[in-house]
Amino acid sequence: MNTFRENLLAGKNAFIAGGTSGINLGIAKKFAEYGAKVAVVGRNPEKAAHAAQEIGHDAMGLSADVRDYDAIRCAMENVASAFGSLDIVISGAAGNFLAPVNGMSANAFRTVIDIDLNGTFNVFRGCHDLLNKPGASLIAISAGQAVNASALQAHACAAKAGINQLIRVLALEWGPEVRVNGISPGPIADTEGMKRLAPDPAARDAHYARIAMKRWGLIDEVADSALFLCSPAASYITGTILDCDGGSQIGDASRIDLSRGMA
Ligand code: COA
Repeated sequence: MNTFRENLLAGKNAFIAGGTSGINLGIAKKFAEYGAKVAVVGRNPEKAAHAAQEIGHDAMGLSADVRDYDAIRCAMENVASAFGSLDIVISGAAGNFLAPVNGMSANAFRTVIDIDLNGTFNVFRGCHDLLNKPGASLIAISAGQAVNASALQAHACAAKAGINQLIRVLALEWGPEVRVNGISPGPIADTEGMKRLAPDPAARDAHYARIAMKRWGLIDEVADSALFLCSPAASYITGTILDCDGGSQIGDASRIDLSRGMA
């Protein structure tokens, strides 16, 4: 690794909600590798401690539920006082399960809205006065369900659509001191979501065919998108949702027959 890469996030302090597993843990590792001081927060204290150990680089692991504003604020204050201040905040905690609206209680719907949408509000609202301004960068993890209706996921669709608008409003209210962006990951290998959605090789291959890039993405590729958005290379980018999805949202690639245009 060359010096520029090693130092890209040197001197930056990052707070990553949901960073104890999956995509968010991948982001935490990437940020630490590029020189940032990193704190990850999740619901489970053992998982948080284990994640911090896995990240290395003196990472902190704390437990707090993003649904609890006071708990998440307290975790942020602890991290800000240990690190000095915060430069980067990621809101990535999410919950999901497949159920039709008629099979979903009001509490079931509220649970996903609470984790994804209200959790993102809590993380971003809670961090503002702890941010090193100007120059701070916030990222929320969104999803294609924000734009494309997906049966059996009314809660996640509504929550992610809300997150996209929250990102845009905060970018307006907090610019020019704070940049606020989102990442919309497509199907990403080795995540809880894809294990449930495509549990066997046949389902996976059918899914690959529909994606322009003909494969699932890697956690590391989403982490690279986060690195870009938090780096000086994205200094004029705010209020945007970056699709890191291999072209999943632009259309169904399995329905294309190019030979029809070759006569
Ligand atoms: N179908 C219908 N309702 C469901 C459900 C399902 N598959 N799974 C949970 N619910 C309902 C519960 O019945 C409960 O409603 P009720 O009180 O009316 O019975 C409500 O949702 C809350 O569930 P509970 O398990 O008490 O909440 P929790 O806070 O412990 O966990 C989740 C909620 C979403 C995190 C949990 O479903 C989960 O662990 N999901 C897997 C992990 C995950 O989602 N990872 C991220 C992928 S993006």
